[in-house]
Amino acid sequence: MDSPSPIFEHHQTRLTLRRWPRSAADRLQAWDGADRYLLDVVAEEGGAGPTLVLNDQCGALALSLLATGQPGTVVSSGDSYTAWAALQANAADNGIDLASFHWHWPSDPPALNASQALVRVPKELSLLEWQLASLTAQLPPGSPVWLAGMDKHLPRNLLEVLGRYLDKPTAGLGHYKARVFRARIPASVVAPPEPAYIEVPPYGWQLRVDAGVFSRQQLDIGARFLLEHIPEGVQGTVCDLGCGNGVIGMMVLQKNPLISLWSCDESALAISSARYNLQRYFPQRSCSFYLGNGLDGLEQEFDWILLNPPFHRGHAIDDSIARMLFRQASQHLRKDGVLRVIGNRHLGYEQLLKKYFRRVAVVAQNPKFTIVDARSYSKAG
Ligand SMILES: C[S@@+](CC[C@H](N)C(=O)[O-])C[C@H]1O[C@@H](n2cnc3c(N)ncnc32)[C@H](O)[C@@H]1O
Repeated sequence: MDSPSPIFEHHQTRLTLRRWPRSAADRLQAWDGADRYLLDVVAEEGGAGPTLVLNDQCGALALSLLATGQPGTVVSSGDSYTAWAALQANAADNGIDLASFHWHWPSDPPALNASQALVRVPKELSLLEWQLASLTAQLPPGSPVWLAGMDKHLPRNLLEVLGRYLDKPTAGLGHYKARVFRARIPASVVAPPEPAYIEVPPYGWQLRVDAGVFSRQQLDIGARFLLEHIPEGVQGTVCDLGCGNGVIGMMVLQKNPLISLWSCDESALAISSARYNLQRYFPQRSCSFYLGNGLDGLEQEFDWILLNPPFHRGHAIDDSIARMLFRQASQHLRKDGVLRVIGNRHLGYEQLLKKYFRRVAVVAQNPKFTIVDARSYSKAG
């Protein structure tokens, strides 16, 4: 299948939009019908005040608003580092000045008060609920909120969820295989939902898992198996790559009193969950955090990297992120360093890893998962 065209045309706007990280072979477009539909609706119904955009995938919303000069100032927020990086790169490609653009991560206070909001409904409903509660504190009562998603991705109970946070939500007609919902900010602020907590035996840890972060109901079964196979007797620097709530790194610290730990993720709320949990249970230990696209841009090298990789990109099942993380891991291991990966057996990560590593060996298996050690290629010679 050919890569889709990067040209996004909407009314008078023509932008070149690509996803991040850039790849000539990328088959996913950087926008969809829900972005188009939201832009149609705000062009017709929007006011002149500053606009808050939530969960823009690659900048189609914010950059279109900035390119048309309507409504002037744009504030944007989302949890994904790669979405933020796509927006920055796409702004540069299109020569869009970001002087009247403000960004904040979900747990930061907004840089500017907006008077209307455009929301892409995120994959994780817990993130949406948390964001809607924040909106009620950030926008004046009565401010309009437009939300949209692709029909095939929208949860059935969305209207009911919206009704818990916003005034008089209504669903619009379907268009571009997407749907727009309209609502208003209520008269009083709605409290955000409580964070989720999950139990981790055998140490009795109770981990905080922030909105939208992986495995909020219970410890992931893959993570559970990997926790039984944490390397011991390790010294030096260890990376928990794709750390989520931080549980893998916590067990590495527990079993290895001399190591320094790096927890890395592309989700800002995963990093804040991991930071909270590590500081709560290991306040005296050396812990660093990296919000980024895997290890891209990080100078640090590691003696061990542990990875329970994502096998989705957005809503699609896709091993491209796992492959990218394997490649990055091979470039960030010291001589004789080891990448330990867990994967569903049917995914066959052993074969993929052989492309980047000198020696690949299965260290444990159960009926569902395989744990593989991959030893570094180039530096070990
Ligand atoms: C399967 S979860 C594992 C989480 C945690 N380590 C555990 O075992 O419970 C995969 C994690 O990878 C993160 N992730 C996805 N894409 C990433 C990327 N490009 N760079 C870094 N982390 C990424 C996700 O946010 C998620 O936290």
